[in-house]
Amino acid sequence: MCGIFAYSGDENAPTLLINGLRNLEYRGYDSAWLIAINKNGEYIYERAVGRVSNLATNIEKKCKEWNIFNTGIAHTRWATHWWVTKLNSHPHHSQNNRFFIVHNGIIENYKELKKELESKKYTFYSDTDTEIIANLIQDEFEIDLKTTIEKIIKKLVWAYALVAIDTKNPNEIIGVKLGSPMIVWTSENWVFISSDINALSQVAKEFTILEDFEFVVIKDKHFSIFSSWEKIEKKSQEINSEELKSELGSFEYYTEKEIFDIPEVIENVFSGRINFAEKKIVNETLLELNEYEIERVEIIASWSSYFAGQVGTYYFKDLAWIPASITISSEFLCDNFILDKKALYIFLSQSWETADVRESLKIVKEKGWLTFWIVNVVGSSIARLADMGLFCHAGVEIGVASTKNVIAQISILLLMSMSMGLKRNLQYSEARFLIEEIELLNNAINKVLSQEKKIQEIAKKYAHYSHFFFLWRNLLYPVAWEASLKLKELSYIHSEAYSTWELKHWPLALVWPEFPCIVINPKGTFYHKNISNIKEIQARNGKILGIITEKNQEADLYDDTIEIPEISERLSPFPILTALYLFSYYVAKDLWREIDKPRNLAKSVTVE
Ligand code: F6R
Repeated sequence: MCGIFAYSGDENAPTLLINGLRNLEYRGYDSAWLIAINKNGEYIYERAVGRVSNLATNIEKKCKEWNIFNTGIAHTRWATHWWVTKLNSHPHHSQNNRFFIVHNGIIENYKELKKELESKKYTFYSDTDTEIIANLIQDEFEIDLKTTIEKIIKKLVWAYALVAIDTKNPNEIIGVKLGSPMIVWTSENWVFISSDINALSQVAKEFTILEDFEFVVIKDKHFSIFSSWEKIEKKSQEINSEELKSELGSFEYYTEKEIFDIPEVIENVFSGRINFAEKKIVNETLLELNEYEIERVEIIASWSSYFAGQVGTYYFKDLAWIPASITISSEFLCDNFILDKKALYIFLSQSWETADVRESLKIVKEKGWLTFWIVNVVGSSIARLADMGLFCHAGVEIGVASTKNVIAQISILLLMSMSMGLKRNLQYSEARFLIEEIELLNNAINKVLSQEKKIQEIAKKYAHYSHFFFLWRNLLYPVAWEASLKLKELSYIHSEAYSTWELKHWPLALVWPEFPCIVINPKGTFYHKNISNIKEIQARNGKILGIITEKNQEADLYDDTIEIPEISERLSPFPILTALYLFSYYVAKDLWREIDKPRNLAKSVTVE
């Protein structure tokens, strides 16, 4: 949520800042701004409401006239306070125009701080909490920028990542963070700061992640890190840029590309963790996990990750015979959860910095109970906080709506429950059978993807409806929820998901020809029960799109069908989600939505 970027080096900062912002744009796309400064303290700034491309157009015109401005900070905004206007865009400056800052986060006590400054005759040009920080710096300035920021952050309540420059000391950039992420990239000729790894992974190799309350001071291409006023040495890490590469190729949208990446993701998750020749799970982390006495699994996650986690709870109960439950992370923080030292707490987060997941993890960590992460981004703060975990290896996901990452999360949860099951009651023959099926899973996924034209035609037929129900029960219930979320998020069409069993309790009241139901009904345990529910919908003139197993003799029961290959019930979430992701994508495309960047959203939710 909000992307911040900074540069100090020999080259012209504006062009580099724009490139960095483009890579961070999925963190927020309400407005963008940058300031660049030269060694004499002369500076230029530019801002634009909307996309980074708007800012780039303004900058390109001006760049020709400008000399080298070799230091700069930039920001792409997801509005937390007030309207999306030019004045509310970053970077914000102090009243005396001396201090400029970019900020990712929320300052909860901004009202009191503003009042305090107003009583000292400060006036404000924007509605943002960020401008307050700039004026606090002016008000409390002493010795230098770093000393001043050290002093003022004690007054700020809640999360932030702040980068600031003092135009009277143009060669210096100061960064500090609490909660929100900050990464420092280095080489001989430059230093960059960015909000996440994706911003520079194709350009830079070495990076250092700042921990809470650590400061970075950049001076003339060199940087130092401070913790509690002491200069500290931190080991830099290296990045595998191949893993973070994402090229659109012939696809129109990243979301489409990422749906078509699903077979590769499945391959990445399982290969190296399963020895398919010997039909064995060979992952060391999972073997280590089996050394713990675990009596219960509690998963904590938010939205798409929550639904992936909910599929996981079925797997843990089914394959490992272990009680498993899931809690939405924001509620975990609010409620009085009874923590249990024999439980394994699993934290799922695809983007890596979701504030409510991170804060929930801290609570469990403080108790000393066993924590496990499943994240996609190497170096993420969630990954650094928990006891052990597994990376999704889903590659970069640029589309704000998560697709391939959800599939990766479900895959890992399946693997974990098989591994934990083998320590308990799961028969080796059953695990072996499942491994054989996993090996063939991509045939089913590819078969679904090859139906893209048909799914597109069906999506076209359904795109004009304003409401949908997604219906199923048991393991596919969270799949229905996830599919419904994707439709809402990508197309802005209202939809809800229920168990078919629920229909008579009340959802039937909304069913009529203009309120279609998508019934997920592949062959399996609940097939016939669902048929009865389908009849109930039809008796009310409800329209039904069925997601059914191929060669189903009763296909004519449905108004339309999307067929998935025959596969075991346990693995059915994979092809079904793939089919429904494509459906939502094509509905959104038919409605001319901005698919990769749904309105009002951002990829990582770093603030409460
Ligand atoms: C929906 C979506 C979001 C995320 C949620 C949690 O497509 O992507 O709803 O699932 O914000 O994000 P992570 O998984 O990064 O913690």
